Amino acid sequence: MAIKDTFLQRISDGSITVGIVGLGYVGLPLAEAYVRTGTKVIGYDISEERVAQLNSGLSGMRHIADDRVSGMVESGLFRATANPADLQDADAILIAVPTPLDVHHQPDLSYVEATCETLASVPRPGQLVVLESTTYPGTTQEVMRPILERSGLKAGEDFMLPYSPEREDPGNPHFETSTIPKVIGADGPAARDMAKAVYDLIVTTVMVSDSKTTEATKLVENIYRWINIAAVNEMKVIFEAMDIDIWEVIDAAKTKPFGFQAFYPGPGVGGHCIRIDPYYLSYKARKHGLSTQFIELAGNMNTNMPRRIVQRLLEEMSLKLRKPLAGAKILLVGLALQGRYR
Ligand SMILES: NC(=O)c1ccc[n+]([C@@H]2O[C@H](COP(=O)([O-])OP(=O)(O)OC[C@H]3O[C@@H](n4cnc5c(N)ncnc54)[C@H](O)[C@@H]3O)[C@@H](O)[C@H]2O)c1
Repeated sequence: MAIKDTFLQRISDGSITVGIVGLGYVGLPLAEAYVRTGTKVIGYDISEERVAQLNSGLSGMRHIADDRVSGMVESGLFRATANPADLQDADAILIAVPTPLDVHHQPDLSYVEATCETLASVPRPGQLVVLESTTYPGTTQEVMRPILERSGLKAGEDFMLPYSPEREDPGNPHFETSTIPKVIGADGPAARDMAKAVYDLIVTTVMVSDSKTTEATKLVENIYRWINIAAVNEMKVIFEAMDIDIWEVIDAAKTKPFGFQAFYPGPGVGGHCIRIDPYYLSYKARKHGLSTQFIELAGNMNTNMPRRIVQRLLEEMSLKLRKPLAGAKILLVGLALQGRYR
């Protein structure tokens, strides 16, 4: 039987096993979403401490209650492991490992590469391997594929390699993994059908033509936020000089029922990935001899905001010197902000 047929058969008879690599903010809720559908999940993490924590029913995350994890373990459908060989039992492997920037502000794909090396050391024909981590266009085909094929198995023939970015928003009470539509792109029909089928189990799927278009889609979502927040931060500074309240302006502007989405000024950009991901595109653009001027400009504005805010607080404080208690409170807030958003 062809790889795809076997895979789809396992999904339809409920015998599929999903392997999740990286059991952090993205991987754990993803595992939970599959467990809820009655799917068996093997969670693999390089951290033995994290594995032991999860297997003893502790989430280790403020926004995920322990009883959700203990429920997963007690169901018998979920177990965490630090032994990569256990991933050979999985039909689909979904990867959610970190993709930070290195000290030179360049993409650090070492976690993704290490994961591919691990998978290549425990190959199993017939698997679907999907990266969920945010990354630049071309990662699936140019970075992952060569490493995975060192196993001797060929992508698109012996195993399938689509891409589907995570859109998790930890702690958001309105959305969770299974209510956020999932964009999927693959470089062949079998990979496409298998990926759609495995994600259809937990969420609404949106199909895109190939892996690099899907990688680009995720970056566009986050760059959109990065640039719009920078624009509104700039407007805040300008309106402040004119004694105009930006918050009142935004509240009024957002009553327009089309063509406007509200973004708000502040020291942060709403999520730790937003300040990282745009530079993944900058890196890849440079490889094509292109620059990402909006991203750099937005970066200057956004990264300067904490400093501006602390400066304003200190100015306010000096005005209140005659009220030492109020001044001390403002100083404490300023220092806390500086620490948090440095
Ligand atoms: N956290 C979010 O809100 C969010 C939202 C959307 C997308 N993302 C993206 O998802 C990816 C994962 O982010 P996260 O927030 O879940 O990270 P995280 O740091 O919370 O979790 C990553 C986990 O991967 C494990 N890990 C690291 N290297 C490994 C390896 N070689 N093999 C197995 N496990 C390994 C770590 O021990 C950790 O438990 C990133 O690309 C991030 O940009 C995150």
